[in-house]
Parts: sequence; C-alpha cells; structure tokens
Amino acid sequence: MSTAKKEYKRITTKTLVDMKKKGEKISMLTAYDYTMARIVDNAGVEVILVGDSASNVMAGHETTLPITLDQMIYHASAVIRAVKRSLVVVDIPFGSYQSDPKEALRSAIRIMKESGGHAVKLEGGSEIKESVKRILNAGIPVMGHLGLTPQSIYKFGTYTVRAKEEEEADKLKEDAKLLERAGCFAIVLEKVPAKLAAEVAKNLTIPIIGIGAGGGVDGQVLVTHDMIGMTHEFNPRFLRRYLDLYTDMTNAFSKYIGDVKSGDFPNKEEQY
Ligand code: KIV
Repeated sequence: MSTAKKEYKRITTKTLVDMKKKGEKISMLTAYDYTMARIVDNAGVEVILVGDSASNVMAGHETTLPITLDQMIYHASAVIRAVKRSLVVVDIPFGSYQSDPKEALRSAIRIMKESGGHAVKLEGGSEIKESVKRILNAGIPVMGHLGLTPQSIYKFGTYTVRAKEEEEADKLKEDAKLLERAGCFAIVLEKVPAKLAAEVAKNLTIPIIGIGAGGGVDGQVLVTHDMIGMTHEFNPRFLRRYLDLYTDMTNAFSKYIGDVKSGDFPNKEEQY
C-alpha cells in the first residue's frame, strides 16, 4: 500500500489543494470503463479523469470532437461504479458547453446527476469564464484545461507545443489566473514549455496538473492506454510507457489462436 493511500481516505478537491500546499505531487490517469477504473483506483492514483480522449481510445475517432454528452455519461457511470477512493473528474465534451453558460450548466448537471462524477473539466480560459462561474455557482467543482486543448484542434491545425510565443504565453498566464479567481480547484496544462508551466504553477495556489508540461508543476496526467502501451501509434516525447501491452496482448491472442486450432485448448482440466 502506498503512503498516499494510508494518509487519505476519499480524495476531494480540498485534498488536492492541501497536497500542493505540502509540496506533494498529484497523480492522475484516465479511465473510461469499470475494469480499468478498478485497477487505477486500487493502485492509488489521486484523480481519475474520464477524458473525452475516450473518443480516440474507445471509439477510434481521429479527434475528441465526436464524443457526445450521453456517451461521456455512459463512460463516467461505469468508472464511478468501480471507484472507492480517487476523485473522478469528467470532461464536458465538445458542443455541450461552448454556446452559452446555461447550456454549460445543464451539461455539468447531467454529468453529476446521471453519472455520479465528482467534478467536471472544461477546455479554455476567458472565452468560457461565464460558464465556469455558472457551474461553480451550482456547487459543481471545475477543473480547467489550458495549452493544447484538443477540442480546438481544427483552430490550431496541429498537435505541436502551444504557447511558445510570448503573446500566447501571456494569454495562458492570464487565463490560468482567471480560472483560479473564478474558483477552479485545479488546471490541466497540456503540451506547453516546461519553464512556462513551472511559472504558472508557482504563481497559483491551485494545483497545476501537467501533460507534456515538464516536472515543475504540481502533478502529472497521462492517458492510461498510452502509458501501458496498449496504443502504439502515438509516440509524443512526453509519453513514458510503463508496459508494452500491445505486444504482450498480441502474443497472448496469437498463442490462444494456435492453441484453439491445434486442439491444445481446452485440455482435460479445462472442461467439465
Ligand atoms: O481527455 C483527456 O484524456 C485529457 C487529458 C489528455 C488531460 O484531457
């Protein structure tokens, strides 16, 4: 059992802010289904993100844009049924909050009511300020997401590092402050220079969780299927693979096929 597991029972948004105060790093991973969430929660991760990356990982879409609110609620409900300790944050998908703050609140309420999630995540800064405030006013915790925000991929035109230029870096710093002032409990910073991310983390009291944002932030998030090597086409520099499950699973499936075809499976002990 890890130290973190002994020290904290249920992880809350306050736990995360306290961890930052104490200089303890926060670990966050994605899950979209019951079985994976059970393993990730039991391993002792503080935050499970039901990310809209489910659109890529689960459904095979090229971007995160197609996934719907109903589909996010389906994934989040399965995760919630598995989780005993981690804080579960659910992405509000593209098209469910951008048009106006009332729609944003309606989507956040549906996620909380129908899935039992503990918090929501939205992408953007000043553009979504009113939506963030309205959701927070309803008592729903909000995690921000700045830097490379995949729901805006067609605006960016590329998945390369964001905020390398001063103008974009300044806007990102302002947006981070704005989200903190609005009441967000944490912010994900995706694919930005490590120096900028460290500066943002230093200037804010809420935790900054990085993905491709270096080690100077308050925690890290990775897509679970990438870090355990179930996916193998996606190889950004920031990704550390802890397993090569693509190869291990392919070998297991090939062995099973061979055993079925040769008649080796099932043997006498594997039948009634
Ligand atoms: O959807 C997702 O998995 C995310 C992470 C990459 C932070 O937003």
